[in-house]
Parts: sequence; C-alpha cells; structure tokens
Amino acid sequence: MNKINIAIDGPAGAGKSTVARTAASQLQYVYIDTGAMYRALTWNAIHHNVDIQDEEGISVLLKKTDIELLPSPEGNRVFVDGEEVTSAIRSNDVTAAVSDVSAHAKVRRQMVKKQQELAQNRGAVLDGRDIGTTVLPHAELKVFLSASVEERARRRHLENVEKGISSDLQMMMKDIQARDEKDAGRDISPLVQADDAVKVDTTDLSAEEAAAEICEMARERIHEI
Ligand code: CDP
Ligand code: CDP
Repeated sequence: MNKINIAIDGPAGAGKSTVARTAASQLQYVYIDTGAMYRALTWNAIHHNVDIQDEEGISVLLKKTDIELLPSPEGNRVFVDGEEVTSAIRSNDVTAAVSDVSAHAKVRRQMVKKQQELAQNRGAVLDGRDIGTTVLPHAELKVFLSASVEERARRRHLENVEKGISSDLQMMMKDIQARDEKDAGRDISPLVQADDAVKVDTTDLSAEEAAAEICEMARERIHEI
C-alpha cells in the first residue's frame, strides 16, 4: 500500500492533534506533533533563561537542544536532552511564550528542516500551522481544521477543568485569540490555509467524526495514487 504524507493545519483547539493522532494510528503511520517541538524549545529557553525575543540566542539554543518525539497512545511523548517534558510543555508559561519563539526566522528554518527529515519517505501525519504551506508543500493530503473561537476556547477550558487546573473561559478566549493573531500575523510561514487544502470545520463535529472524515479522505488519496 502507498504511504502518503498528510498535513493538518489550523488554529489552537481546532482538533488537530486529536484528529492527526487518530488518523495516524488507524493508518499505522507516524504522528509528528510539530507544535510540541516549538513548545519543547520554548520550555528549554525558559529553563536556561534565554530571552525569548533574542532570535540569535534562541537559534543557538536550538542547535544545542536534542528534541525527541516518541509515539504513545495519547500523542507524542516529548524529551529535551533526555528529560521528559510531555506535561511541562503544556504549562501556561510555555503557552504564553511559544508564539514569540516560533516567529523567529532562524528558528523556523531549523525546525522545518528537522520536520521534513522526520516525514521523509514514510507514511506520516504532521500537524501544526505551516505544514501544508512550508514543511510539506507536496503532501498528498492537506487538511485545514477550523472551529469557532468560542468552541475552541470551550474545549481548552474543559481540558483544564478535567485535569483539575484552574481555568477561566473568558481568559481562555482572549489567550487563544491573541495566539491566533500572532500566528496568523507573523512574516514567516503565517498560519494560513494552503490553496490545495481541504477545509474541515469541526465546530459541530465530535473529534471521532472529524477523525473519521480525515481517514476517509486519506484512504481515497492512497487508492488514487
Ligand atoms: O495545541 P495548540 O494548538 O495549543 O498549539 P500547538 O500546536 O502546540 O502549537 C503551539 C505554538 O507553536 C503555536 O501557537 C504556534 O505559535 C507554534 N507553531 C508554529 O509556529 N508552527 C507549527 N508548525 C506548529 C506550532
Ligand atoms: O491540536 P489542537 O489544538 O488543534 O486541538 P486538540 O488538542 O486536538 O483538541 C482540543 C480539545 O478539543 C481536545 O480535548 C479534544 O478532545 C477536543 N475536541 C473536540 O471536543 N471536538 C473536536 N471535533 C476536536 C477536538
């Protein structure tokens, strides 16, 4: 059977990681969470007191940082220089800083190269912001997931409540909007739907329904090739 590359992009809370992970598992493909790579670098910058606005400093740090993604049923387990940071990279501090770190051109160049190497010559599902436009412009299937900002904030809020983390829905909405604006407004590889991506609005879809839709499209593409 043909092995294809699948690119899944979209804003925070659209369902990218849930859908990407489920599709990868059903197709027996590797799942690569590129947002986790930017979060891992951001965590390391905070850990080493590197100014997140300092492009050169962050870029030098990235060259010295070993970021490893390991598969698990819940998504990617993430390691920085051998230390597991899977939960730590989801902290509010990292979330607040990650869009600034990922806006640096030198950082993006290195990350894109790593991500292309991870996807090369294999069945792979990558999710992020610039997969269909920059990382895998020739991906056989590109999906742009969206959902209303209210629904995306509600999902993230629910996740916090379930984990017992204090959370405020209005604040969550503001944080998500601010991150959307930074990700969509930056000069390099902004969050934008690729011309040849299929848009899937998940506002009224369950994660299972959205994943089933993507898997169906992937199987169609595999049979076409
Ligand atoms: O899971 P969530 O949607 O909150 O975000 P994420 O996928 O973990 O990505 C965190 C941040 O990394 C995003 O807000 C972007 O600033 C950045 N990112 C990026 O610039 N390019 C990517 N391919 C993936 C993430
Ligand atoms: O990766 P991204 O930030 O785009 O979203 P996610 O982390 O996959 O999804 C955020 C939350 O919304 C998770 O708790 C999912 O289970 C949930 N979700 C949902 O309720 N309905 C969907 N259609 C997709 C995701």
